[in-house]
Amino acid sequence: MNITIIGTGYVGLVTGTCFSDMGNEVYCVDVLEEKIQSLKKGIVPIYEPGLEELIKRNYERGNLHFTTNLKEGLDNSELCFIAVGTPMGEDGSADLQYVRQVAKQIGQTIIHDIIVVDKSTVPVGTADEVKAIIQEELDNRGKDYKVCVVSNPEFLKEGNAVNDFMHPDRIIVGTDSDYASDIMAMLYEPFTKNHERMIIMDIKSAEMTKYASNCMLANRISFMNEMANICDKLGANIDNVRKGMGSDSRIGSSFLYAGCGYGGSCFPKDVIAMIKTATDAGYDPVLLKSVEEVNNNQKQYLSNKIKSVLGNDLTGVTFAIWGLSFKPETDDMREAPSITIIKELLDAGAKINAYDPKSMVIAKEFYFNDLDINYCNNKYDAIEGADVLVIVTEWKEFRSPDFKKIKSNLSKNLIFDGRNQFKNSLMEKMGIKYYAVGK
Ligand SMILES: NC(=O)c1ccc[n+]([C@@H]2O[C@H](COP(=O)([O-])OP(=O)(O)OC[C@H]3O[C@@H](n4cnc5c(N)ncnc54)[C@H](O)[C@@H]3O)[C@@H](O)[C@H]2O)c1
Repeated sequence: MNITIIGTGYVGLVTGTCFSDMGNEVYCVDVLEEKIQSLKKGIVPIYEPGLEELIKRNYERGNLHFTTNLKEGLDNSELCFIAVGTPMGEDGSADLQYVRQVAKQIGQTIIHDIIVVDKSTVPVGTADEVKAIIQEELDNRGKDYKVCVVSNPEFLKEGNAVNDFMHPDRIIVGTDSDYASDIMAMLYEPFTKNHERMIIMDIKSAEMTKYASNCMLANRISFMNEMANICDKLGANIDNVRKGMGSDSRIGSSFLYAGCGYGGSCFPKDVIAMIKTATDAGYDPVLLKSVEEVNNNQKQYLSNKIKSVLGNDLTGVTFAIWGLSFKPETDDMREAPSITIIKELLDAGAKINAYDPKSMVIAKEFYFNDLDINYCNNKYDAIEGADVLVIVTEWKEFRSPDFKKIKSNLSKNLIFDGRNQFKNSLMEKMGIKYYAVGK
């Protein structure tokens, strides 16, 4: 098939590249000239394992194109995916300005019938709005091309995005058209070879499924964080509790890790957007509001714990921070707990040595550009001259560090672990004072 993907961020770039890898002709369109020029040179603007090789292979093969010219893509495509950002608006709702812009451009540009697929995470009712915007532009032009708008929310996880796209748990397609559902089934068939994974439903339910899924995952995290906070008070160990709970097949063991809060480009904004949508619809989403509140408090967990041990004035104390990205295997810093923690420590007078395998450039440029942070080349450089170690992101390289080196460097011999990486018994054996979340 010939496909246009509008928006080359984490979702659009992965989607376009994976479709091209299956032999489709794909046009990836973005408004950012610099980004498109970089992609043409093989420079990938985001870190996502496996993506660079896949882009290179398909670009060289000639079936993956990068352009700022939407018309070039649309003229040649029977399918067009909208994968632009839907950030949080001022009132908490999803900001649909980019989606609306793109819908308008599609209506102004197409020269034949087309299926438009909403892949961005958008509130219930957006597909209808997209269709109306395109139709208005077509009416202005006096054209009667058939436009079918389908909802196909994306469930990939940053850090494992290529693998998730290639081997999806499920593909949700919301449509009222048999023709569109046949085309979507054909398109996704190579990804669902050994198991039928496509679930076709009405458009509104598909849009809602994405929000409900993210809210459920955020809910599990906040639930476990609340349990961890209670464990803290009672002297229980959340790791043991997690194992005990997770072995119940009705609960399951994934997504039950306590920590210093969720971040990223999806959970925070999607939970808040769902709260707004529900409230606007006349329903008070008490549970979702608590999920968000627990998470906001949890982002303060480490700094509060540190102050309870070292006092509120941290002048003269140097903290080595391991991990800045909101989770491992990504350079994405959006809503990362590290932002809250580092700002709290600096406000209390502390000094910061920071290290992250992938996100330091982004951190420096966009999140901490006005802050005095010492960026270090590796994790051991960060502990040199530091008094305390704080683990914020659970990158694999932090899992089995040289504890002797840590102990000999840290003058206060203290680790605060926001991701519960180590066993209390090991830390005791090593003679390191260790504070984790809920154990
Ligand atoms: N990042 C994730 O892990 C993830 C997972 C599932 C769903 N989503 C959803 O997918 C959507 C995209 O997320 P993302 O993280 O890829 O966003 P992103 O911010 O990384 O990328 C969006 C891209 O769209 C481009 N863009 C904006 N307006 C445009 C226009 N008019 N024409 C062409 N390009 C335009 C931007 O320049 C940018 O490159 C969001 O709705 C998000 O909620 C994200």
